[in-house]
Amino acid sequence: MFSKTIVSLVSLALLASATPAKKAKCSKGRTASSDKCCVWFDVLDDIQENLFDGGECGEETHESLRLTFHDCITFPIGKNGGGCDGSIMAFTDIEAGFDASIGLDEIANEQRPFALKHNVSFGDFIQFAGAVGVSNCGGGPRLQFLAGRSNYSTAAPDGLIPLPEDSTDKILKRMGAAGFSPNEVVDLLASHSVAAQDHVQPSIHGSPFDSTPSEFDAQFFVETLLKGDIMPAAPGVTTLGTGEVLSPYPGELRLKSDFELARDPRTACEWQSFATNQKLMVARFEAAMKKMTTLGNNLRSLTDCSEVIPVPKAAASQKAHIPAGKTNKDIEASCKRKPFPILSVLPGPQTSISPVPPS
Ligand code: HEM
Ligand SMILES: *[C@@H]1O[C@H](CO)[C@@H](O)[C@H](O)[C@H]1NC(C)=O
Ligand SMILES: *[C@@H]1O[C@H](CO)[C@@H](O)[C@H](O)[C@H]1NC(C)=O
Repeated sequence: MFSKTIVSLVSLALLASATPAKKAKCSKGRTASSDKCCVWFDVLDDIQENLFDGGECGEETHESLRLTFHDCITFPIGKNGGGCDGSIMAFTDIEAGFDASIGLDEIANEQRPFALKHNVSFGDFIQFAGAVGVSNCGGGPRLQFLAGRSNYSTAAPDGLIPLPEDSTDKILKRMGAAGFSPNEVVDLLASHSVAAQDHVQPSIHGSPFDSTPSEFDAQFFVETLLKGDIMPAAPGVTTLGTGEVLSPYPGELRLKSDFELARDPRTACEWQSFATNQKLMVARFEAAMKKMTTLGNNLRSLTDCSEVIPVPKAAASQKAHIPAGKTNKDIEASCKRKPFPILSVLPGPQTSISPVPPS
């Protein structure tokens, strides 16, 4: 009895020393493990209300997530330069002028005043906004957030960010140079589950890449494998945009890069593995983003403030399905090792997918 008590006291003490004490007192009675994290609670309140329209997974969220990639993937420049350094916000005129980043001036210009107001570095702000934004999507990941990136940057050179018309060889080579395996490229592309386009096919502004652009679900990995037979453009437009291929569904846009990565032997099995496993998709995305969001930074100079990132709500549907009007036979199964799983088919006629409204 006595010795048992001692044992449990000792294990309690061990437990207490393993859990970091929340010693910093932040605004609104919140606490954090480091006082360096407190400012992020204030940024959180501000951007949820005033950037993400009350915590939505809408256009600003999608653009903010895309911005994390375009700031980070400019790596390496020279020996170890570039990466997530905020340069796309400091030199927006230059970097949003790159073909791969057309349109990102909008979100960079919207975000900048928040970064200045809270006096945080541009590099930190971009990654924080992306992590908070995607936590607003149903089934979303809870991304790690490390604070402390330097505010110093220089403009990145053009040519480092993949384009949708690039060959799979070229994309995998570029991503490989930044440290990502072919499977990790697929993992990162779970982001295209909450995504739409404006500039590949401008005649259908806001056309999403899957039927559920506010849900971080696996529909993207299913729908990209459907046979494409629709000209995804406004009536009267007869040419595909650069980097655009035929789509399976009215209102949905398909990137050539997504189409090919879904079918390439190097990436098809990872792609298919998410069709019936949204949890795996989220876990792999979180792991790949952990790597991406610190490119070019020294981990030892960063502080873990992940505790500030909200816990996302569950996805509306944990199971991916075949959209209405299509069947399992429309799937172009591409993983040689494993047959494509049989999915349930949504009943009803094929309807057009609505564009993501501009906000
Ligand atoms: C293979 C590499 C990739 C290519 C070629 C690619 C290409 C594109 C293109 C062309 C668009 C449409 C932009 C527009 O017209 O408005 C887009 C949107 C988007 N991309 Fe990617 N992307 C890639 C990887 C990534 C990664 C790694 C992320 C994030 C981790 C990401 C996040 C997004 C998001 C969230 C959108 C939607 C933006 C919105 O709805 O406004 N992409 N991507
Ligand atoms: C970061 O750099 C920009 C200029 O690129 C400057 O306007 C801003 O005040 C800096 N922010 C911090 C926190 O130093
Ligand atoms: C803003 O941040 C910079 C760099 O961290 C610091 O030198 C400066 O004193 C801060 N300004 C204010 C008004 O807090």
